[in-house]
Amino acid sequence: MSDVPEQTRFPTLDTTPIPVIPDNVPKAVLELPDNQAEFPLVEAVEGPGAIAIASLNKQTGRNILDPGFVNTAATSSSITFIDGVKGVLRYRGYPIEQLATSSNFLEVAWLLIYGELPTEREFEAFDQRVRAKYLVHEGVLTYIQTLPRDVHPMVALAGALSTLAAYNPHILNPLDPQQVEDATITLIAQMPTIIAATYKHSIGQAFIYPLRELSYVDNFLNMMFSDKASEYTIEPVLSKSLERLLILHEDHEQNASTSTVRNVGSTHADMVASIVAGVTALSGPRHGGANEAVLAMLEDIRSSGDSVQSFVNRVKNREEGVNLMGFGHRVYKNYDPRARLVKESAHDVLEALGVQDDLLDIAGELEAIALADEYFIERRLYPNVDFYTGVIYKAMGFPTGMFTVLFALGRLPGWIAHWRELVQDPTTKILRPQQVYTGSLERDYPAKFVGIRPIRRSRR
Ligand code: CMC
Repeated sequence: MSDVPEQTRFPTLDTTPIPVIPDNVPKAVLELPDNQAEFPLVEAVEGPGAIAIASLNKQTGRNILDPGFVNTAATSSSITFIDGVKGVLRYRGYPIEQLATSSNFLEVAWLLIYGELPTEREFEAFDQRVRAKYLVHEGVLTYIQTLPRDVHPMVALAGALSTLAAYNPHILNPLDPQQVEDATITLIAQMPTIIAATYKHSIGQAFIYPLRELSYVDNFLNMMFSDKASEYTIEPVLSKSLERLLILHEDHEQNASTSTVRNVGSTHADMVASIVAGVTALSGPRHGGANEAVLAMLEDIRSSGDSVQSFVNRVKNREEGVNLMGFGHRVYKNYDPRARLVKESAHDVLEALGVQDDLLDIAGELEAIALADEYFIERRLYPNVDFYTGVIYKAMGFPTGMFTVLFALGRLPGWIAHWRELVQDPTTKILRPQQVYTGSLERDYPAKFVGIRPIRRSRR
């Protein structure tokens, strides 16, 4: 029996199928020395369209070479729009600034996953379904207890989510809509419980169980920061600003971790397995791991006693391993709109929480120097979402190692929305790129080795 009420089981508003390209669209013509090929032009609703080159190899015997997918649209999608030059980000058409100010995390999750804002009744039912699932299987908590206390929280999260799959085999069939619904709710409801449990384990405290009477973010804060020996009061300013940060992270179209989720999902691996892959992709310092790296960088600058300008000089001189973390973006060639909102919050949150942190001043100075410097201007490098988040998370009391886990918590609904868009589209193909081979031509195994390198036998 599912715990999902019948009337809300399959919301009618779901992801839009990817359109099939009609025959009569204008074509791009590609001239090769010995060949000519034609490809349909695909228009976007907004932003750059594309040249549909699926038949390129068939027509010319060649592939597209685009390392890093700098110029490759791997899919069409109706979830999120970014204009990187203007610094625009919209979820399902709604500007991020409006959602961050007026909405809440679960409402935005519904929007991303089902395509429209929920009615009041739909939201209420969704919220209830999530609260009903806050509690994780005890087996997941037992697994967390087996981990070393100093395990990185992202490693713990990936492992615990895999364990969640082990205890919930009935939510893993990607082709059963009911199981997809149940996986959606289970993941959203239980990610905070898992994250808080791994934190409590890391500091040697007892887990704090979720409370259904608490809202999503308040319940998370309570599991993180209350303990068995004292009352914990949830500071409204903390709850509000964390909710805002989570909304800002909820989706970001085809970023590296979302593309990873889509890649894994395209094999018809289950939703949980695909999300675990997203978590591991997010952990790298070029992606979600940057928020942790930014704080380490700011602390290094402070402890070195060197000026901020001399750090910037080291970045420009390309000293090995010295990057301006939290700067630069594949898509934004202007101020990341999320960074603008985070920066606005940073001073307010620190002040409201009564926290003074000179790291915020160092970050401000770093930003001002970089934005006026030719190296960064020329390359159009601006602060990204990770530049100021760490300072806020630190002020909220989260340890540095947990910053990327908070990014993962925020990004989860986006990953789910993309996974569902991909899996529900009957035209989806397995994501399997081609390559330009640069290795050896065919050669024979050396005759002199034949017979003298047999398969090794065990000694016993
Ligand atoms: N500091 C110094 N130089 C940089 C930086 C930086 N943070 N980012 C890019 N550059 C330089 C880069 O060296 C290159 O210079 P040149 O053309 O002279 O070789 C030029 O700018 C273009 O950079 P790129 O590496 O080709 O850009 P990319 O689109 O491949 O990489 C990026 C984007 C985010 C990986 C990169 O900017 C970076 O490593 N930034 C620091 C890490 C970071 O903050 N990541 C968080 C990204 S936003 C949140 C998220 O989505 O995860």
